Amino acid sequence: MLGTNPVLCGSIAGRPGRFGVAMHNAAYRALGLNYVYVAFGTEDTAGAVGAMRSLGIRGLGVTMPHKIRITEFLDHITETARLISAVNTVVNDNGVLTGHNVDWIGAVRALGEHTALAGTHAAIVGAGGGARSIVHGLISENCAVTVYNRSEVNGQALADAMGVPFGGTPEELTSADPYDILAHATPVGFHDPRAMLVPAAALRPEMVVFDAVPMPVETRLLREAKSIGCTTVPGVRMQLHQAACQFELYTGIAPALEVMEGALLEAMEQG
Ligand SMILES: NC(=O)c1ccc[n+]([C@@H]2O[C@H](COP(=O)([O-])OP(=O)(O)OC[C@H]3O[C@@H](n4cnc5c(N)ncnc54)[C@H](OP(=O)(O)O)[C@@H]3O)[C@@H](O)[C@H]2O)c1
Repeated sequence: MLGTNPVLCGSIAGRPGRFGVAMHNAAYRALGLNYVYVAFGTEDTAGAVGAMRSLGIRGLGVTMPHKIRITEFLDHITETARLISAVNTVVNDNGVLTGHNVDWIGAVRALGEHTALAGTHAAIVGAGGGARSIVHGLISENCAVTVYNRSEVNGQALADAMGVPFGGTPEELTSADPYDILAHATPVGFHDPRAMLVPAAALRPEMVVFDAVPMPVETRLLREAKSIGCTTVPGVRMQLHQAACQFELYTGIAPALEVMEGALLEAMEQG
């Protein structure tokens, strides 16, 4: 394979991260694939899609600010990405670009490692793209979902779009609510180990508590939940599983999850 051009994959983001680079390249190496993954920093969505076409980039992970506006530049959007109203992955099949959303699969797999989802009740806190993916994923697993959000307008809009109830603001959650799963999907707690939106009094030991916030790995919400005996699921698990889905879309091969996980944790330790 030496001397042959590698297949190029990568990501586009306003602020490019290092975790995708670490995970995907480690998994390519482990399988001996002649692929390389690069994180591109750009605000220019149309230009990035044009480059994908002209340079023959095989796959791109898509984060802010491109997730919604990229849809107008692609040839196809999967039904799920349309439902979630956001694309987080683009696959290039010989010049035909298809937008996917695999965030929801990441959430479902991360939670599914700890609990059976069918028949459970879940409270989702937040109404952005992350919350939307999680709501979609849980509904598709036959879980009953209620949305909580700071602004009623946005919370109600998400609830209506997904056909589930709006429960109120996060502060209104109490331990009397019958939830098996609590999934937090706002930026509160991101890079701030003290911040927490959900009242500690709303937690019960039998709950599974998921925090989509990727950093720190253990947010204050997860620490408080763990301290009373809840099962906790960090956002990095969602990130890992959705990266594995992307890898499979680009290469057609399921990656070794432990290789990607090791690379992710190592990259996180480096700060
Ligand atoms: N682990 C993963 O793979 C993964 C994937 C996707 C997202 N995420 C994470 O999920 C979180 C949410 O991301 P996002 O893309 O959905 O959208 P976002 O724009 O980061 O967050 C929007 C949501 O957060 C609420 N919010 C923001 N600041 C708040 C505050 N100070 N107090 C209360 N609510 C607040 C907003 O409420 P209003 O409607 O009232 O404004 C809205 O519901 C981020 O931390 C992101 O990193 C993780």
